[in-house]
Amino acid sequence: MAKAGGAGAGVRRPLVSGNWKMHHDHLQSIRAVQDLGLRLGAADVASLDVSVHPTFTSLRSVQTVIEDRAIPVALGAQHCHHDDQGAFTGEVAPPMLARLGVSLVIVGHSERRQFFGQTDEVVALTVRAVLRHAMTPILCVGETEEEREDGETEARLTAQTTAAVKGLSPEQVAGLVIAYEPIWAIGTGRTATAEDAQWACAHIRGVVGEVAGAEGAGAVRIQYGGSVRPENAAELIGQPDVDGALVGGASLEAATFAAIVQAAASVVLTGR
Ligand code: PGA
Repeated sequence: MAKAGGAGAGVRRPLVSGNWKMHHDHLQSIRAVQDLGLRLGAADVASLDVSVHPTFTSLRSVQTVIEDRAIPVALGAQHCHHDDQGAFTGEVAPPMLARLGVSLVIVGHSERRQFFGQTDEVVALTVRAVLRHAMTPILCVGETEEEREDGETEARLTAQTTAAVKGLSPEQVAGLVIAYEPIWAIGTGRTATAEDAQWACAHIRGVVGEVAGAEGAGAVRIQYGGSVRPENAAELIGQPDVDGALVGGASLEAATFAAIVQAAASVVLTGR
């Protein structure tokens, strides 16, 4: 295992992100973010960041609600192409997202890798494209169930992290968000144990340190994702190398997502 870098947990501001996937049309998205705005108070976001990642057709509507009502959440996207424009039917370019006020883009989610053929090479290009437009990539890495059973988790995380991070400047690496998402835990109700999540996030941080230097490794935020719920959020985010959560199913209902944010906020306040 690469060396752990728990030091610095106090200075990394956790990020709790809601990935709405292919749910919520724009009217449902408006209602969801309005509801979230009613539930999140200033104290909830004093010590951490929150983002929501609606589908492309909802981005403009959600942006308007967030701005009009000064809701303390960042607007995120779930994917983009790595070119700035071109003949790529059906794709969305990074500058289009930046113009909409998007500040975070999920890159290389396992569903994109698995169902849409996204390779490590494309993921690396997309990370660079998102950075080029002054947005923050949330780079997803994680092992399949089979890889886990075969004892390949460490190698998989090392390969995916290295492929995406290699060649970035120390400043770029420091500004990244990485999400450790074991594929067997996504949408299954099977959450990694807090010890497993800590181990994997510490390993990823160690890999970042080896590839890009200690400064970037100490600063990069590493989320855990995979069946995060209000009941397990505090224990997961309480781990020294786990700097937040990427939440799928439990982010669709504002009440549930707000409860996750509040659980995270309480653990950050009491010290990780
Ligand atoms: P889940 O999804 O919370 O529904 O398991 C997590 C994700 O895919 O980001």
